[in-house]
Amino acid sequence: MSAEIEKKMAPVHIPVIAIDGPSGSGKGTIAHRVATRLGFHVLDSGALYRLLGAAAQRHAVAVDNEAALEVLAAHLDVQFLVDDQGEAQILLEGEDVTNAIRTEEAGRAASQVAALPRVRSALLARQQAFREVPGLVADGRDMGTVVFPAADLKIFLTASAEARAERRYRQLLEKGFDASLAALVEDIQARDDRDTQRSIAPLKPADTALVLDSTDLGIDAVVQRVFDAASAVPALAKYL
Ligand code: C5P
Repeated sequence: MSAEIEKKMAPVHIPVIAIDGPSGSGKGTIAHRVATRLGFHVLDSGALYRLLGAAAQRHAVAVDNEAALEVLAAHLDVQFLVDDQGEAQILLEGEDVTNAIRTEEAGRAASQVAALPRVRSALLARQQAFREVPGLVADGRDMGTVVFPAADLKIFLTASAEARAERRYRQLLEKGFDASLAALVEDIQARDDRDTQRSIAPLKPADTALVLDSTDLGIDAVVQRVFDAASAVPALAKYL
């Protein structure tokens, strides 16, 4: 076979940027900004765990019933759409749950179902399927360690629990919700503990991850650091 044909038949490399970190570190915002600039897809893996928590509630499955949750995860009927206004829309079993899965309660249920090993493996292939041309920015807790261990760039985005709770507090007030800052700090700490101490896929930086602390850094500065890091990776630099 000629070298040229062999080259044409070689699988196309689809680059991945993994952005992991605790709740409220700004991963979602950063992931979208980075993906928009590169023209890449986005995987919001936390949404899948939130959706599973919502499905469990809908079907009266307890958040610790691992066997039933594994089946539910394998058959999760979800659609990630964009509505007429260009806003992301998430459907669970045909119903719009875009806002419903963003509550603190949904986050708590997500982190409970996410601690179960069989649930995580049932959702693995679904997450990996988001890797499509031209590339993917994957946001979560174990993107760089488990789901995309060969990611082209791994970022671990963090911030103090107080700073993260305060951001969340402001977001809730802006949306017209009632909120208590003290309760949010407590909730974020409890979720951090559950995410970092679980035996399977705990939240931790991948060995080669670039750790960014956004406590005192604005969104633009964080995005710029990600682009600086991406420009040093040939598979990503060509999209910048
Ligand atoms: O990122 P988000 O806050 O939406 O995630 C909700 C919960 O889902 C997290 O607290 C975490 O327990 C779980 N999660 C996970 N692994 C991921 C993404 C989210 O365990 N890759």
